Amino acid sequence: MSRPPLRPGPLSPRRKVPREIPRPVYALLGEPGPTHPPRARTAEELANMRVASDIASEALAAAAAKVAPGVTTDEIDAAAHEAMVSRGAYPSTLNYRGYPKSSCISINEVICHGIPDLETTLFEGDIVTIDVTAYYGGVHGDLNQTFAVGAVDQHSKDLMEATRRAVDAGIAAVKPGGQVRDIGKAIEKLVRGRFGIVHQFGGHGIGPDFHDGLHIQHNYDRRGTERFFPGQTLTIEPMLTLGSPDARVWEADGWTAVTVDGSRSAQEEHTILVTEDGAEVLTTHVPL
Ligand code: MF3
Ligand code: CO
Ligand code: CO
Repeated sequence: MSRPPLRPGPLSPRRKVPREIPRPVYALLGEPGPTHPPRARTAEELANMRVASDIASEALAAAAAKVAPGVTTDEIDAAAHEAMVSRGAYPSTLNYRGYPKSSCISINEVICHGIPDLETTLFEGDIVTIDVTAYYGGVHGDLNQTFAVGAVDQHSKDLMEATRRAVDAGIAAVKPGGQVRDIGKAIEKLVRGRFGIVHQFGGHGIGPDFHDGLHIQHNYDRRGTERFFPGQTLTIEPMLTLGSPDARVWEADGWTAVTVDGSRSAQEEHTILVTEDGAEVLTTHVPL
C-alpha cells in the first residue's frame, strides 16, 4: 500500500505522569520562562544529566523497537512515555510551550516536531525520526535518530548515512576555545552540497533548561563566534534533506515542520559535554 499524504490527526488523551515524578517549570502552564545564558554544569547537574541522557536513550530504543508498517505514531509515543516514567523521568516535551505529546515523530518530509497521533501510521519505505527528551534530577537529556521502516530507497539510505556522519563530524568539531561556527563548517565540508542542511532549526544548550541561550547552527554561519568552554552541555542535531533546505510549519498545528518542496529529511541528535580537550557524548545508551 502506498503512503497517503501526511496530515494532522486526532490526539490520544493526555498521558499521565505519576504525581511523585518531579516536573519542569513549564509542565503546568507551558511557559519555560526566561532564557538563561549557557554556563558550566555543576558536578551534581552533570551526574544527573548522565542519568537523564541514559533514560532518554533507553526510551528512544524502546520507541524504535515499535517501528514497523501499520504502527501508529501514538503507539510509538506511548512506548517512549512509558520507558521514561517507569524510570522516574518526566517526558520533557509534554506541555513544553504547549506541545501535547511525550516525543516528536517526524515522517519523510517532516523535518522535526511531528506530533504523534492516533491515525498516522508507518508504511514500508518510510523514514521516521523519533526525538525523545527526558527530565530527571532537574536536568534534561535529548536525542533523536531516523529509522527506516522496512526496505527504503537508496536515496533515503544515503540521506540517513550522511546524517549520521554529519552529527559525528559536528561532535568532532567541538573543543574548548573553539567556536560555535566550527560545527556548521565541519558539517558543510562533509555534505559538500549533496544534501540540504536545514538552517531554520538548530541545536541548543541544555541542562536545567530544555533549551538555553546557546544556539547551534548546523550550516556554516560566520556569526557563530562564541567560544566553547569546559563543562558546557549542548545538543548537536543536524537535519539534512534530499532537496530544499527550507522549512515551513503546518498552520493547522503550529508545530509540524516540513520541507517546502516535500523532499525527505533525516536527523540525528546527541547531548554532549564539552570536556578539557574535546567533547563527550552523554546520550549513548548504556543500561544502568
Ligand atoms: N527535542 C526537540 C529538540 O531536539 C525539541 C522538541 S520541543 C517540542 O530540541 F516542543 F517540540 F517538543
Ligand atoms: Co534538541
Ligand atoms: Co530532541
